Amino acid sequence: MKKIAIIGFGVVGSGVYEIVRQNKDILTKKAGEEIDVKRILDIRDFSAHEEANLFTKDFNELLNDDEISIVVETMGGIKFAYDYTKALLESGKSVVTSNKELVAAHGDEFFRIAKEKNVRYLYEASVGGGIPVIRPLANDVSANDIVKVSGILNGTTNYILTKMFKENSSFEDALKTAQKLGYAEKDPTADVDGIDAQRKISILMSLVTGKKIDCALVNAKGIRTITAEDVSYAEKLGCTIKLIGYGYTKDGKVSASVEPMLIPKNCPLSSVEDVFNAVMVKGNMVDDLMFYGRGAGKSPTASAVVGDVIDIVRSPEYNPYFSWEKSGEDFFIPYEEVTARFFIRVKETEKAKEVFGAEDFVSGKDDFAFITNEITVRQLREKIAEISPVNIIRLYN
Ligand code: HSE
Repeated sequence: MKKIAIIGFGVVGSGVYEIVRQNKDILTKKAGEEIDVKRILDIRDFSAHEEANLFTKDFNELLNDDEISIVVETMGGIKFAYDYTKALLESGKSVVTSNKELVAAHGDEFFRIAKEKNVRYLYEASVGGGIPVIRPLANDVSANDIVKVSGILNGTTNYILTKMFKENSSFEDALKTAQKLGYAEKDPTADVDGIDAQRKISILMSLVTGKKIDCALVNAKGIRTITAEDVSYAEKLGCTIKLIGYGYTKDGKVSASVEPMLIPKNCPLSSVEDVFNAVMVKGNMVDDLMFYGRGAGKSPTASAVVGDVIDIVRSPEYNPYFSWEKSGEDFFIPYEEVTARFFIRVKETEKAKEVFGAEDFVSGKDDFAFITNEITVRQLREKIAEISPVNIIRLYN
């Protein structure tokens, strides 16, 4: 029997417990031996829980228990989660996490310790919730040079944007509804400002390249600047707008960024709605793949966590394919060098014609819009200094 512990009995942690209880026989069959929850660490009071005896507030009860070989960290945040994860790995236990903030910030260090101790640090649930994307990238597309990873990595913003398109809601109203439904937090910053997606694209590109992509290098812009008027222009252009995490590799270097993008309606990402996520992967042999599903929520996220636990029961030894190492800064392509086409709104057309050579304009309520040729972000910044744009949105390519 494999004994596991759970740190953090919130939405995901309690989901892990429920899957272990509810799918006990399935887990035994798939893992090859029974899996049981021996301890749950949480500072809150669970004395009324039907298995109250499992709960503890003392981390050492997990750390010093030799029977526990796998620990699930679903507490989130950095401070305690970092100390606990490090101590657990150093003590020779494998750790499974859904904590994208921690993986993105300290993954390289944890993989180094996991290698030294010949244990595993797995993080399938940290990106795309219940969608299998880490394991396929680590295993199934190994024969490829992965040239691009892009997608809708944040369910909250996708819900807000879907509402703006389908119900003509303003950003503020859609955010309020998302908060009412529990999709967005009271402080929505991490979601709406692209920070959550920034962590997730960092993790994906770190996995793809085997080198840590520091979040601080990843340009992240959220959806606060998207207005009902942008939505109306997007519809005229046969597009939708999605918050996209976008990474690519070129000449041995890597780029990653997060921003709202105009997505043509014939691109599969345009039909990903509400809280769903989708990740598109382009390999030089397999071509385009798309992974789609629930990017958040109790059971989907816990499903990914328990999948990792089963993987470790089957193969408890360190596996380099999921890991990445520290990288130097020259490995990263600066955002200014990203090449794309851009949708630009202007109050008057003359200057845009002169500076961008723009010819085709779409009329809006109070202004005009045009789409640039392919230019770098650096060129874009130089040019827009002359035209005072109302808004700019990158086109997905
Ligand atoms: N806040 C995240 C989202 C939860 O909206 O996608 C899952 O990481």
